[in-house]
Amino acid sequence: MERVAARTAPVELAGLKGLTPLSATTGGADSQEIYNVLRARWGVVAPVDMEPGVPAWLVMGHAEICDIARDEAQFSRDPRNWRWHYDGLLSERSAMLGISPREPRSSSYHSDGEKRRRLREPLDDGLAALSEKTVVAQVEEVSMRLIDELGPSGEADLVRDWSKKVGFLAVTALFGFDQRTADQMMVDSAHIMDHTGQAAEARDRMGRNLMAHVRNRRATGGADLTSTFVRHKSFHDDREVADTMSLPLIAASEFLTAWIALTLRLLLTDKRFAARWTGGRIALDDALDEVLWREAPVANPPLPRYAMQDVELDGKLVREGDALIMAVAAANQDPRVHTGDTWDEVGNRAHLAWGVGPHRCPASRQARIIARVAINRLLTELDLELAVEDHYLAWVPSPWVRHPQALPVRYERARSSGTEVY
Ligand code: HEM
Repeated sequence: MERVAARTAPVELAGLKGLTPLSATTGGADSQEIYNVLRARWGVVAPVDMEPGVPAWLVMGHAEICDIARDEAQFSRDPRNWRWHYDGLLSERSAMLGISPREPRSSSYHSDGEKRRRLREPLDDGLAALSEKTVVAQVEEVSMRLIDELGPSGEADLVRDWSKKVGFLAVTALFGFDQRTADQMMVDSAHIMDHTGQAAEARDRMGRNLMAHVRNRRATGGADLTSTFVRHKSFHDDREVADTMSLPLIAASEFLTAWIALTLRLLLTDKRFAARWTGGRIALDDALDEVLWREAPVANPPLPRYAMQDVELDGKLVREGDALIMAVAAANQDPRVHTGDTWDEVGNRAHLAWGVGPHRCPASRQARIIARVAINRLLTELDLELAVEDHYLAWVPSPWVRHPQALPVRYERARSSGTEVY
């Protein structure tokens, strides 16, 4: 009689303890080290903790991410489908409530199918209608204001004093906020992101500012993104407009911060780029692309998918209601998408730094303009030198994004202007 090999039961999340914290994947000097450890131990789908005691599946394979992210019928974005909500497991103090609230926001990022299509349309249409010239002019203005605030020479932290500010103010400019409100919202957003004691108050004020701006644009109109939103036939009310704006204002500006900071670090530390910069042949787009490939700034995009039924993935039993995180930074290094050196394969645009499928980032074009113009202006106006050695840089302990905590530099105003790149 032929013996059938005994098959061990596939691993499932329930009962797993002491899991790797998701923030370990972004918090080390080597952006791939922990993904490699997880891959060696579990394969391309590994259990991790999004926060202590709150587990999810981390999907690290390029093909697996594409399949899951494109299948919104089986893998939902609606947080009500997360078992931690319907089983009442999540503590009131969990930071996950900001990302996966019990009630979804009226926006494409928390919706599936027909509703997602309806709410995504204004985003795609509004961004397509934005004038590139206007975006460039806005980023130039914000950049010059911040550079003037720095003064003629001194020491600065290019994360705190540049990347965070320019990212946030560029996004508020797309939506047409005036400078005073934008400055206030920037302070409020920092309280929310850092979970300070003033976070609740800041969230309320930000909500009020957002709604007041939406109502103002409905009354007066304008040429910004908020104005195209309020005119768009797909939105049913102002709540949908405000909910759609809240992700770009809080999360996307953080994404921009990460991309700008990582690119500045590469430009300031890598001799290949320094030589091309001083020689006048600026390869800013090459540096921006290399970062997307090697160190996807949104390493683990913060909005999980929720399994709609039990399914076996890479030998793991994903239960209905489990959360899955798409580790795009790991997928970009998946040996199955590369033949040789990762980023240097001309024309290989297969990286997943913008996500993939129906929730792919709608603003990759605008984000590139913002990052390129801001970095170009900074490096044109200031002579910069990193004030610490690269290997001493610490990394933000975030489960989702990767960027240095600080980029301390010495700077002085440049005597001559550099080359324009756009
Ligand atoms: C102008 C700045 C930006 C805006 C307005 C913006 C806007 C958005 C919006 C609205 C979504 C949700 C789309 C949906 O679920 O339907 C999104 C998703 C996303 N964005 Fe952006 N974004 C910006 C910059 C960035 C940057 C700089 C990066 C990284 C380099 C990035 C990477 C992503 C990723 C990875 C997702 C999630 C995709 C997924 O979960 O499948 N975004 N963005």
